[in-house]
Amino acid sequence: MKGIILAGGSGTRLNPLTRVTSKQLLPVYNQPMIYFPLSTLLKADIRDILIIVAPEHSGDYVNLLGSGKQFGARFSYEVQDHPEGLAQAFQIADYFIGKESVAMILGDNIFTHDFGPAVRSFKKGAMVFAKQVPDAQRFGVIEFDDKGKVISIEEKPRKPKSNFAQVGFYVFDNRVVEYAKNLKPSWRNEYEIVDIDNIYLKNGELTVEKLSGDWIDAGTIESLHKAACLVREKGLGMVSESQIHLKIESVKKPTAK
Ligand code: G1P
Repeated sequence: MKGIILAGGSGTRLNPLTRVTSKQLLPVYNQPMIYFPLSTLLKADIRDILIIVAPEHSGDYVNLLGSGKQFGARFSYEVQDHPEGLAQAFQIADYFIGKESVAMILGDNIFTHDFGPAVRSFKKGAMVFAKQVPDAQRFGVIEFDDKGKVISIEEKPRKPKSNFAQVGFYVFDNRVVEYAKNLKPSWRNEYEIVDIDNIYLKNGELTVEKLSGDWIDAGTIESLHKAACLVREKGLGMVSESQIHLKIESVKKPTAK
């Protein structure tokens, strides 16, 4: 399975922090934000990864992440000229996805959940993940019936029909490219990921798994701060606390004369 990290967008909700850099390069405690979605993909054994970036920061991503060799992975890069919605990623990733299935993670989403089992068992259709939140109107909202069957998915509804948010990790089979290419932009002029979900839902091919563990969309000042606390508390990401202490120790050590 191929992987995509979507790290485009302009990060306006984090202004002025994002005035001269990209949201997904901002520090979350001890690491750049993108390290967290990257570690989530690597943990799920996804190693062929396309990183979609905004044009003005593309060089910074290549400088930080390189070829992927140091992470035991292979990275490709594509530029999203204008941020026009999450589903645009599948239009951009057309050639990269080829004939495979694909898992996409948003560059500002931080998880403690291990997606490995879900990814490994995926065969066909679409698989998305839900998490109960207090502020569902900020997200794609998934409504379930009494038996836990999905009834609807709506993007940022003013009156959410449930408190289950759709998190920023999605697995789709190869048809997602065709579906994304045929989408019409929504009222806010974006290619919406929920429109793709709804195609699979209508075909009876959408699975929703409820998430265990923590999830933070670090796209606002408040949630960025919460993310830093979570990372500090749980030692998440590519760089463990112990590695950092080791590095600090080695800097402190006096050199022999
Ligand atoms: C996006 C999606 C939304 C999803 C959320 C998860 O929203 O559009 O469906 O629930 O990511 O982080 P955004 O954060 O881009 O506003």
